[in-house]
Amino acid sequence: MYGQECPSHGRYRRRRVISTQAKTAAFQKCIAPECAATFDVTETLTGCPRCGGLLDIEYEWDRLPVPRSLREFESRWGRRNEPLEFSGVWRFRQLLPFAPDDQIVTIGEGQTILRPSDPVARYVGMDNGKLLLQYEGLNPSGSFKDNGMTAAVTHARMVGAKHAACASTGNTSASLAVFASATGLFQVIVFVGSGKIAFGKLSQALDYGSKTLQLLGDFDDAMHQVQQVAKQQGIYLCNSVNPFRLEGQKAIMYRVLEALRWEVPDWIVVPGGNLGNSSAFGKAFRELRQLGLIDRVPRLAIINAAGANTLYQLVEQRGLRWSDGHPDRKVISQFYREMDETKHRASTLATAIEINRPVNLTKALRALEAFDGVVRQVSDQEILDAKAQIGSGGFGCEPASAASVAGVKLLRTEGVIAPSDRVVCILTGHQLKDPTTTVAYHANDREQFDRVLGSRGVREAPFANQPIVVANEIDRIMDVIRSFE
Ligand code: F0G
Repeated sequence: MYGQECPSHGRYRRRRVISTQAKTAAFQKCIAPECAATFDVTETLTGCPRCGGLLDIEYEWDRLPVPRSLREFESRWGRRNEPLEFSGVWRFRQLLPFAPDDQIVTIGEGQTILRPSDPVARYVGMDNGKLLLQYEGLNPSGSFKDNGMTAAVTHARMVGAKHAACASTGNTSASLAVFASATGLFQVIVFVGSGKIAFGKLSQALDYGSKTLQLLGDFDDAMHQVQQVAKQQGIYLCNSVNPFRLEGQKAIMYRVLEALRWEVPDWIVVPGGNLGNSSAFGKAFRELRQLGLIDRVPRLAIINAAGANTLYQLVEQRGLRWSDGHPDRKVISQFYREMDETKHRASTLATAIEINRPVNLTKALRALEAFDGVVRQVSDQEILDAKAQIGSGGFGCEPASAASVAGVKLLRTEGVIAPSDRVVCILTGHQLKDPTTTVAYHANDREQFDRVLGSRGVREAPFANQPIVVANEIDRIMDVIRSFE
């Protein structure tokens, strides 16, 4: 099984199978079918050393104690005083069994909730009870990233790393920073683009004590640089090219199923940035079906911001497909060449997903294929309007998260999603990550609105809840209050 031949690159040397691997029956595997080289879990890799493809974590399931039914996980609820059972990721560790229990790093991630929101359902044209919001803002660092980071830092600990790094539009850095400061296991360097990061997120990296490099460039530049630095300095890389990160993010889907009493919804709708989530969700469902734990899979909708729409362009406009593991590389390189020639750079108020070259592109193509997926783009105006509706419907999310709801609205208009479908939108990050955008939308100050939002094509705020300026006099205050009736 391990160290098999890599047909496209000649013989691959057999690697030493060490005890951790034997115990966990986990290994890393290149996703390119013509390569499919395998590597020990104790290796630190962010791509296939043979062909450069992305890596999956795979398991020899027949050697592992796999649950017979997802209901078995319910027995863990009564043991919530144990950190691994409390964790919304590790209570499902039989489904990501790469780490011995005593190596797992947890800070209480994954205490999130799936709730219907009927006001939001009405806004997007769905039946009551059919639109459900998976609120990942409740994680320790306020975004879904903690699901993946707990797995990445667990692996970092397994391999004895003392230094970790990431590039980020803000949430990955906040997550890595909090794991480092809460555990004291690693020294952390985070790379962020200048002027591209919402203040809530930047404040987290600073407060948690991470060395923070504000690169004079954007996320893609930061991603490129951090990969060089990690390679040259032997620093452990915590971006989603790290396949262990995605193992943790599978747990978001386990919790969705758990909240639905193990019923599979009709749609999962997720904002698309670096495409780690969509890739992880696809893997989660693929494995659950392979293990006979579910009998159907949901459809997948990945929603790009129109200002950062690489996946939409490639899939919906240029017909790029997974094609049994052979996506047309020429289509991808031509698209990137055009981007460079026209000096086009991603630009959206949903700064979390302001990404030109999504690193998990091929994994996302695989997920789209397996789950009859679609990709859509939504404007910043649509994102902010959806965000205001989500807020008044009882959930505070950041702009990128609201792309999912704006995407459902669009797919309802197109008739792709039916009003009676059961749809789960992933609200990826907390509202307080980016208060500047929220306040500008609701502001009664046109100058502030135009300065923050106008440059991105947002012209109006139909759902603004403007603050009311009132004189510091009781009579004036009473006048205003009476006017509410
Ligand atoms: N939503 C939020 C709030 C994010 O922070 C991100 C990614 C995404 C959606 C996109 O998820 O990459 O899995 O497709 N943020 C990364 C970061 C890039 O650096 O924090 P994806």
